[in-house]
This record gives sequence, structure tokens and C-alpha cells, in this order.
Amino acid sequence: MNYRHAFHAGNFADCMKHALLVWLIEALARKPAPFCVLDTHAGAGQYDLESGPATRTREADAGILRLQAVASEPLLPYLTLVHRLGLYPGSPAIAAALLRPNDRLVCCERHDEDAATLKQLFARDPAVAIHRRDGWEALRALLPPKEKRGLVLIDPPYEDTEEFTHLVAGLKLGHTRFRTGVFAAWYPIKRLAQVRQFLTAMRDSGIRDIVAAEFLLREPLDPARLNGCGLLVINPPYQFDTAATAILTALLTAIGTGEPGQGVAVTRLADE
Ligand SMILES: C[S@@+](CC[C@H](N)C(=O)[O-])C[C@H]1O[C@@H](n2cnc3c(N)ncnc32)[C@H](O)[C@@H]1O
Repeated sequence: MNYRHAFHAGNFADCMKHALLVWLIEALARKPAPFCVLDTHAGAGQYDLESGPATRTREADAGILRLQAVASEPLLPYLTLVHRLGLYPGSPAIAAALLRPNDRLVCCERHDEDAATLKQLFARDPAVAIHRRDGWEALRALLPPKEKRGLVLIDPPYEDTEEFTHLVAGLKLGHTRFRTGVFAAWYPIKRLAQVRQFLTAMRDSGIRDIVAAEFLLREPLDPARLNGCGLLVINPPYQFDTAATAILTALLTAIGTGEPGQGVAVTRLADE
């Protein structure tokens, strides 16, 4: 396990994932019944962009730091939350900030140090449970949540070449255990063939109601670069397609590079 999210915090891929995550959780909160968020690959929870690993890569310069200077309406809920939380929030801090009194957050993180950091961060928050455990295995062990409503965020590091295979299996398993749950799975767009294979597998999975929201900085010709990323959503809340298009288009306007092939695509893979 070499991947440390602190080196990448606040980059364009985080902005994409976190802006959509805010919308998804706020959509769940539109109904009064309590919900649970399961974050299977949680990271360290929050990141200092002004010291440590983030300053070594400076990836946030072309992500959240540029975005904060040119905010536009569809991104305001995300940017307002980032501003309010101070340090750059990872998915656990974002989810925790959006919980209502009876909602819950469960985070899994396999890296000892990041899991310990998370435990410390949420030590006084009874609504948040932290597990130092395998996130894939948690899909079997922790689903369905007792609330029978909720969101499962799956955000693996993709340092293992089999990660897309794990993702397809994990989504199928998770969906079998929690059919009404909203599943959001982040994926990198490096090599187009790999992404196409993943989307075909999901189209052929028999799971209904799937949308893929994709954000491309450039045509994915160089597989060594993170050319873009996607969020595959099962059981998307009402009007996700429209909201995701607006959010990602605003993001592209703000931080797009102008390179050939940049763009946004929100595609329905399976009908309701
Ligand atoms: C992309 S980062 C997560 C970022 C976080 N979701 C966010 O948005 O702030 C992926 C994390 O998964 C952790 N990880 C890797 N394999 C894991 C596994 N099998 N189970 C749980 N966590 C894992 C890594 O240590 C890393 O912190």
C-alpha cells in the first residue's frame, strides 16, 4: 500500500468527486428519514494544503486553489463547505459535515496511519464510526445499513492493476446486499480501453439505473497521465443527470486546460 491521498488532496479529481458527493448527500437529506454513508476507502479525512505532502506535488494549484478564485453557482455548495471546514476536506469530513442528527457515517481505511488519523479526527463524534479494515470486505459485512437508506462511496487508489475488476465485483456484491442504496464509485480515466471495459461490464451486470458522470481534461491518449475521471452512480437521486452536467461544466469552465478533447459527459448506462 504505497498510495497516500495527502499527495493528491484538492486536485481536479478530488474537486470533481467531492462536488458531486456534496450534491448526492444533500439529495439524500431532502427526505426526512435517516440515512447512512459508507465510505469504503476513506483516506485521512482532511488535508493541509499549505504544508507537508500537498506542497510537494502542488496538485491542488490546478484544482481547488484555482477553483476558489473563479467560483460559479453550481459549485457553491461544495466551495462553501470547503471554506467552512478550513483544511481541505476528504470524503469523510465532507460527509460528516452534511449529516443530520440521526444520520450516520461509517468509514473504512486500511492504511494504519490514515486510519489512526481518522479515528482521532472523529473521536468525539458519535455519528461517525471508523474501521481499520478492508473496504471491499466491508461491502459484504456492513451492508445493508440499519437505516435502509444511504450512500456507499467507493474510492480505491487504483495502484493495483486489478482494481477495476475489484470494483465491478464490489458493486455487484454491494448492490445485491443493499438494492435501494445509492452507490458512487470514482474511477480514473487514463487508458480509454480500460474504462470502456469497466462501463461495458456494468452495463452487462443486470443492475438497473446506472449513470456515469465523466470529466476529461484532455483526450486520453497518454495512459501515464490522469487525463480525467468518472463517477459511476447506481440509483442516482432524482435529477442527478442534470445537476452533474451543470456541476462538471462549471468545473471545466473554471479549471479546464483548453487542451483538445476536454469535456464533460453524463451518460445513462442502464435504465431505471
Ligand atoms: C483515493 S484515497 C481515498 C480518498 C477519499 N475517499 C477522499 O475522497 O478524500 C484511497 C484510500 O484507500 C485506502 N485503501 C487502499 N486499499 C484499501 C482497502 N482495500 N480497503 C480500505 N482502504 C483502502 C488508501 O490507503 C487510501 O487512503
